[in-house]
Amino acid sequence: MRDFKGKIVFVSGGASGGGLGQAKVFGREGMKVAIGDVRQEALDNAVKELIAFGIPEKDILAIKVDLTDRADYTRCADKIEEVFGGPPHLLIQTAGVNSFGPIEASTFDDFDWVMGVCLNHVVNGLLIFVPRMIKAYAHKTEFWVATTSSMGAFMAGSGTGPYSASKAAVNNLMYSYAEALKPYGAGATVLCPGNINSNIGNAEKFRPANLRNTGYHVSEGTMAHLRSIHATGIDPVELGEILKEGIENERIIVLPDHTPELRAQQLRSLNETIEDYTLTGAERAAKAAKRAEEMQKMFAEMAKNSDGKEAPPVMGWAVPEGAEPFGMARDDLDWIDSSKKLQK
Ligand code: NAI
Repeated sequence: MRDFKGKIVFVSGGASGGGLGQAKVFGREGMKVAIGDVRQEALDNAVKELIAFGIPEKDILAIKVDLTDRADYTRCADKIEEVFGGPPHLLIQTAGVNSFGPIEASTFDDFDWVMGVCLNHVVNGLLIFVPRMIKAYAHKTEFWVATTSSMGAFMAGSGTGPYSASKAAVNNLMYSYAEALKPYGAGATVLCPGNINSNIGNAEKFRPANLRNTGYHVSEGTMAHLRSIHATGIDPVELGEILKEGIENERIIVLPDHTPELRAQQLRSLNETIEDYTLTGAERAAKAAKRAEEMQKMFAEMAKNSDGKEAPPVMGWAVPEGAEPFGMARDDLDWIDSSKKLQK
């Protein structure tokens, strides 16, 4: 898809971070921009930011919606058609949350919240919008679906289980849609960032009241730690430009890190991780230390700001003063290995 002007884009999670960056980029291309998010205050701020970015107010539609609620999401889709005169030509599903801790400590609430937003909302949106998009646009004009996944899609982590599983599933789904939409003259792109300068470090603050029974240690300190990591992430507008290039050039996966060499190194390392799962336990252990060292170097490289300045390492090795390590189990779970709990 190369022709954006005058068309409609819907960005889920568009009130903040990566989604707001995408709304700005495609709005600057002359698209009518609909954003959907569960936080009204963030939506109000996002509208101000979009106007300040130069997008005409008449081309902005902000919708408060819980994307995990299918009836609510359907109402959101109806509203876009009512106001802008048709379904989106470009659907970008970016809303997401994260929560980290030992997978064996996870509760149903942990899985339901993270999978609900990161995976199920993507399914909801595809099922609600794609038939409408095909009916309105197939063989008439370009249209496209995109999703913001994560580098986590390619990696398993004992402390990132629900998040990584949701993102792996999202990637797989998008490969299917990329094939499925070809006969209609459309396609799919999945964006897999490593780190975005966004507000996702605060996600736990907005966890719904009915899903708060977590098995993880979550505190102001863990959120401060996550915020310090995400502050070193890629700028959301820069990320939106990279996604645009990917859509224009029909890429199915977009890896936004800076250099082709770094991307190739990431892919080699990720392939090797899969190969390792096929080795014997002894062979795998022999390779583990070397891999940990390589990964640390890779993430330090990824954490460099786009202006080339050194930034603190990502992935949580450095815990800033006043913060706490994230990814630990809740203190009262006495059956969890003590190394996975906060040492006080
Ligand atoms: P963010 O927190 O700044 O934005 C996410 C938005 O999703 C928020 O405005 C939030 O209110 C909204 N949201 C959450 N649950 C919702 C629901 N039920 N209904 C409607 N809206 C909901 O976070 P960020 O980082 O911009 O996240 C965007 C995407 O990028 C997510 O899918 C995330 O998993 C992914 N990502 C983020 C990375 C990072 O380092 N921040 C790295 C890789 C991927």
